[in-house]
Amino acid sequence: MHPIFFEQPVYELIFGLACAVWTPLIPIAASDLPHQWLVTRTVKSPRRPGDRTMHRPDEPDYLTFAADLSDPALVAIYDELPLWSAPFGALLLRHVPLRRGATVLDLGCGTGFPLLELAQRLGAASTVYGVDPWAASLERAREKVAQWGVPNVVLLSGDAATLPLPDQHLDLIVSNLGVNNFADPEAVLRECRRVARPRATLALTTNLQGHMHEFYAVFAQILQELGDHEARERLAAHIAHRTTVARLSAQLAAAQFQVTRVVEEQMVWRFADGSALLRHAFIKLGFLDDWKAVLPPDARAKVFTALEAALNRVAAERGELSLSIPMAYIEATCKMTGSP
Ligand SMILES: C[S@@+](CC[C@H](N)C(=O)[O-])C[C@H]1O[C@@H](n2cnc3c(N)ncnc32)[C@H](O)[C@@H]1O
Repeated sequence: MHPIFFEQPVYELIFGLACAVWTPLIPIAASDLPHQWLVTRTVKSPRRPGDRTMHRPDEPDYLTFAADLSDPALVAIYDELPLWSAPFGALLLRHVPLRRGATVLDLGCGTGFPLLELAQRLGAASTVYGVDPWAASLERAREKVAQWGVPNVVLLSGDAATLPLPDQHLDLIVSNLGVNNFADPEAVLRECRRVARPRATLALTTNLQGHMHEFYAVFAQILQELGDHEARERLAAHIAHRTTVARLSAQLAAAQFQVTRVVEEQMVWRFADGSALLRHAFIKLGFLDDWKAVLPPDARAKVFTALEAALNRVAAERGELSLSIPMAYIEATCKMTGSP
């Protein structure tokens, strides 16, 4: 359980009472939210020459925007989005409904994607909340909100399974690569249903079973050759844990959502060989721990050495190592009471 909340029952009681008198049609103010959830309530841009805090009252703020390209903070932000998140977010942004004035939530917003993008595309009449329990990522998102000056973002620190928002508050809930990372996705989806307005849209992206199947085929073959059947079973379980459109649709149905649209695509991650793959920073960050967990610690060096050599042989035969990533955009609406 995230330490930031639930340890303050008095506070929860106060907020519960506040929610009990909530009128869903009136937008919630950031100042009404539990303060321990809020990473930022008001956005202050750093003062720098030409920035929006210095514009004249009679001119649009964006006309005075001037980027200082020697500022390391700005450069860091320019170079910020993982290539893993970007194609899924682009898929979401191609299809998600954008309605002026919408009240929106990004589940698992991490360092602010697609949260900030959505907030800017929807415009200042919209409010876009982002929730994540990962404190350091929210601090980064807060810096970006300040750097870019995006006033309609509200960052919430905590678990999406227990949101500090009133019932029927949101028009749109999105999650880019979130649902496949939540410890209890069913609880998060039930909470989404509570905070969704009756005509709200839920729009999710995820990778699917079949993810990097070329890599896993080689991994399974190595374990077969080494005679490690237990590790092979653990690898099979790891492969099977990835979701399918059917599984996600069933989870959505159980939370009283009805899938209205599915868009499936595939991208390919290309590497010169297995040595490059296994040393790639994002592979090490995002995937390697799960691959290591298939093996007992004392077997890892031997198995990974054999795996790397086998991947390199595959790459030599095929000219490169191409890994398929099946992706889905899934859109759902609230089931009406009485519908099956
Ligand atoms: C793969 S990252 C995706 C981040 C971002 N949406 C992107 O596209 O780059 C998954 C995110 O879900 C967050 N997360 C995990 N469990 C969560 C939960 N119970 N509630 C909200 N966010 C959660 C993680 O901290 C992480 O930031």
